[in-house]
Amino acid sequence: MTDQEIRKGLAGVVVDTTAISKVNPETNSLLYRGYPVQQLAERCSFEQVAWLLWYGELPTAEELAAFEARERAGRALDPRVRHVIDEAPTSAHPMDVLRTAVSLAGVLDPEAGDDDREAELRKAERLLAAIPGMVAYDQRRRRGQEPVEPREDLDWSRNFLWTTFGEEPTDVAADVFRISMVLYAEHSFNASTFTARVVTSTLADLHSAVVAAVGALKGPLHGGANEAVMVAFDEIGFADRAEAWLGEALAAKRKIMGFGHRVYKHGDSRVPTMRAALDRLVDEHGAHEVAALYDRLATAMDERKGIKPNLDYPSGPAYALLGFDTPTFTPLFVASRVVGWTAHVMEQRAANALIRPLSAYDGPAEREVPAQ
Ligand code: CMC
Repeated sequence: MTDQEIRKGLAGVVVDTTAISKVNPETNSLLYRGYPVQQLAERCSFEQVAWLLWYGELPTAEELAAFEARERAGRALDPRVRHVIDEAPTSAHPMDVLRTAVSLAGVLDPEAGDDDREAELRKAERLLAAIPGMVAYDQRRRRGQEPVEPREDLDWSRNFLWTTFGEEPTDVAADVFRISMVLYAEHSFNASTFTARVVTSTLADLHSAVVAAVGALKGPLHGGANEAVMVAFDEIGFADRAEAWLGEALAAKRKIMGFGHRVYKHGDSRVPTMRAALDRLVDEHGAHEVAALYDRLATAMDERKGIKPNLDYPSGPAYALLGFDTPTFTPLFVASRVVGWTAHVMEQRAANALIRPLSAYDGPAEREVPAQ
């Protein structure tokens, strides 16, 4: 094997087929099961999109009603999971706490040892229903607030905000949050999804794949970027500082979080929809300085590097305006992407081949162990 055959980071390497989503950087489009994600974000609930990603078609009215009833009934936080979250020091990152909670949910799942498709669909549904409660509970305990019980009269997105904040969201807040969840749900062979497929390819269980994927998502080059965007916004402080801050950050060879993408080189297909959603929150809160900073930094980055924002760039400030604490942003990404991960787990299992690439050795030549 020669060096030329090595693609660092698997850049540009097609490793398998998928029928779940299609990213086309040339036309700047993203399709979930053939449907443009922008249309899904405009017209569908998060529950409908989850069903679509798992089953390949949008649900009928009857299928949706039955699914919603199961999801709503499965929201309460298991007391054993609650106990484990309570044991975690508040110095622990919420992604580490969530990874641990999801792992315990796997141990406690009634079908833990069962990997047939029907069982995996039920496990995926249970995770979708349970994760918001884990995230909300953790943010509230860090704030010294009592937990809020889920409400079965609210859809998934509204209930998520209700259990986190203990008050009903405005229509704008609920809609913006729903849109962000739809946009985050799936994105082909990104690092965390590929991780889930690698784990599944060894015939390990769905929860092992999801726990590993949570770990992969945490890093700032992937999901951790939405948190890092807000850290940068806080560091910059106000719009007039954006250019100077960027100059210093680039001179220090820092990566600017929320910019760039491995697949899209002319802009992320999801950004215009999320930016429009962010604008609605900006208007509702009168937070025009946030939009000004957003624009100044994006323009400066484009002028200096020609690099465009990715989805994490508008999501970060949107989650801040919704009231989430910055370290909770990436757990929100988990709550949505768990749908994509589990769809890929089922697809991988249905036509499995062990994922085991090769490496080119460049260590010392063979040598003899000195006599001891
Ligand atoms: N800030 C500064 N320079 C950048 C950035 C950035 N955000 N992104 C790319 N570059 C530069 C990079 O330094 C390199 O320059 P040079 O050729 O001079 O060394 C050039 O652009 C090519 O970048 P690359 O790192 O080879 O590109 P990649 O495809 O390996 O990286 C990326 C993609 C997402 C890891 C990278 O753009 C990045 O680190 N972005 C910041 C983190 C981020 O926002 N991640 C979220 C990704 S999308 C949503 C998600 O998964 O959550």
